[in-house]
Amino acid sequence: MMIISDNAKKQIDVWVAKYPAGRQSSAVMEALKIVQAENENLLTPEAISEVADYLKMPKIAAAEVATFYENYNHKPAGKHVIRFCHNISCMLNGADDLIDYLEQKHDVKVGEVTKDGRFSIKKVECLGACVGAPMLQIDDIYHENLTEKKLDEILYNLR
Ligand code: FES
Repeated sequence: MMIISDNAKKQIDVWVAKYPAGRQSSAVMEALKIVQAENENLLTPEAISEVADYLKMPKIAAAEVATFYENYNHKPAGKHVIRFCHNISCMLNGADDLIDYLEQKHDVKVGEVTKDGRFSIKKVECLGACVGAPMLQIDDIYHENLTEKKLDEILYNLR
């Protein structure tokens, strides 16, 4: 069964067109993201393999990208993925306490999905926004200078 839909191929082609001819593999990060979004926020080895075939690149090269970056989910994830930075600046500014707060309030652990499937939590390394520590990323959006109150507001607004 094909994992990449015609719609996904059209979206991938838009990215491929941004690079010189023969350099279609440069679109791999966006292609993986598009395919993941179409497959319940999950990127399986089969999906990675199909992306590699579609971009005419070695499967191992696509797998390296897919496993290096935190943007890709290799086990079931929520509709939204909370990537909570727990690196040095965020840790020194209270990230661990905020993660505990999040886990207790929503009855979910890091690496798990909430019972309603609304979100899952990942602990990630520095996202390059240390000046706004503690911070997290949800989907493509950064939220900085977090407090429990701010966390509640962000989660409340997640549909
Ligand atoms: S340490 Fe958290 S963004 Fe850099």
